Amino acid sequence: MVCLGNICRSPMAHGLLQHKVEKLGLDWEVDSAGTGNWHVGERPDKRAMATMKAKGIDISYQNARQITTADLDEYDVIYVMDLSNLANVQRLATKPEHLQKITLMMNELPNAELKEVPDPYFGTDNSGFEQVYTMLDKATDKVIAKYS
Ligand code: 4NP
Repeated sequence: MVCLGNICRSPMAHGLLQHKVEKLGLDWEVDSAGTGNWHVGERPDKRAMATMKAKGIDISYQNARQITTADLDEYDVIYVMDLSNLANVQRLATKPEHLQKITLMMNELPNAELKEVPDPYFGTDNSGFEQVYTMLDKATDKVIAKYS
């Protein structure tokens, strides 16, 4: 799960998918990273943690990190939140197989109104985080259904 800062959207996507994977007892490795390095080592944004906690999911254990080309070898599917993430991750690819693994998270919900998960970081309240949660809850259900 990849976004810009790895403190808002991708930690929420990571937490949601991890929660569902554990509930189903699936042997999947789930992780998240950012394309940028500004928040490396930090816990998720307080608003992201609070939104998730209200739904019963703890993401406070997560620490932000920056994606590298090694992740494109390590993981089978790389979900990005928006088109700028897509371009930035595609730039890290060194083989055709890498490019094939990278996809927009919202491609899992082809009928949704929004094609990108909007960045809630600069919003002044929690409403952006609620919207992100709702989108990612639906999208991660599709991921589970697709690969489990
Ligand atoms: P994220 O949100 O990409 O969903 O983690 C952001 C977090 C931090 C910044 C931008 C977006 N920032 O500019 O620091």
